[in-house]
Amino acid sequence: MTSRTSYRTLSGTSRLAGVMGWPVSHSKSPRLQGYWLANYAIDGSYMPLPVAPENFETALTSLRDLGFAGVNVTIPFKETAMRACDELTDRAKRIGAVNTVTFAKDGRLLGDNTDGFGFIENLRQEAPDTAFCSGPAVVLGAGGASRAVLVALLDEGCPEIRLANRTRKRADDLAGEINDSRITVIDWPVAPSALENASLVVNTTSLGMVGQPALEIDLTGLPTSALVTDIVYAPLITDLLAQAKDRGNPIVDGLGMLLHQARPGFHKWFGIDPDVTPDLREFVLSTD
Ligand code: ATR
Repeated sequence: MTSRTSYRTLSGTSRLAGVMGWPVSHSKSPRLQGYWLANYAIDGSYMPLPVAPENFETALTSLRDLGFAGVNVTIPFKETAMRACDELTDRAKRIGAVNTVTFAKDGRLLGDNTDGFGFIENLRQEAPDTAFCSGPAVVLGAGGASRAVLVALLDEGCPEIRLANRTRKRADDLAGEINDSRITVIDWPVAPSALENASLVVNTTSLGMVGQPALEIDLTGLPTSALVTDIVYAPLITDLLAQAKDRGNPIVDGLGMLLHQARPGFHKWFGIDPDVTPDLREFVLSTD
């Protein structure tokens, strides 16, 4: 008995893209971009590209030479990719990392960082009636994700950012590098007192993620109009979001940031700015 397998064949004009990482098997990008390719009936393919760190730069230029349109870059290559690019967008320079590389017709490598874009677009789409940048923002965490969120919030016109991180020095260093007087670093234990009159709270730490401890923060001082969001999306509703929702705050989960950050790459490589829909969310979350 033969099993039926469906093959999608690629023509000579098919556009190719993928995600470089090490490891990369956990990445949701192939599923996400594959959904859009099918949905918009585009002749192209997007594949996981596991690349050992010592081979990164050779692999990147080889993909260009093979005719790829571009690649996403994930852990641990976001900073290396920045150094490998010939040209960077302003936001990639300021975030200090690249997650989207486009191969130009003349062979140059163009690096962009779309994480901050994804963060803002997610809030715009999911909380359209919330003036999340009308007052101070409290940002928890000072890692790579925090950096993208801070740059995006500053670009969005946020008047004040209160930045707290368990390791104070990391927050001081990050604020120093971004160098914008709207950022104030506060000590991690006093973060609850910084919630007063805030219009936005963002968790950029890994706390609350499956397998990690919960982010425990007393939200008593937070206005109930403030938007609370988490970049963690597994689980979708973290303890922080559940606690915020219970007291009446609007909340936005982190999945949309992942989905929206993928849009600029897809647009550049395949020619369509794709939609983020409830159906896409469901598809990316399902595993079959
Ligand atoms: P990413 O690039 O995803 O931001 P990261 O650079 O490893 O990842 O940063 C992880 C963030 O989660 C940091 O802000 C980290 O705080 P430290 O700088 O003090 O390590 C934060 N984090 C991780 N575990 C934590 C914990 N148990 N308590 C508080 N913060 C934690």
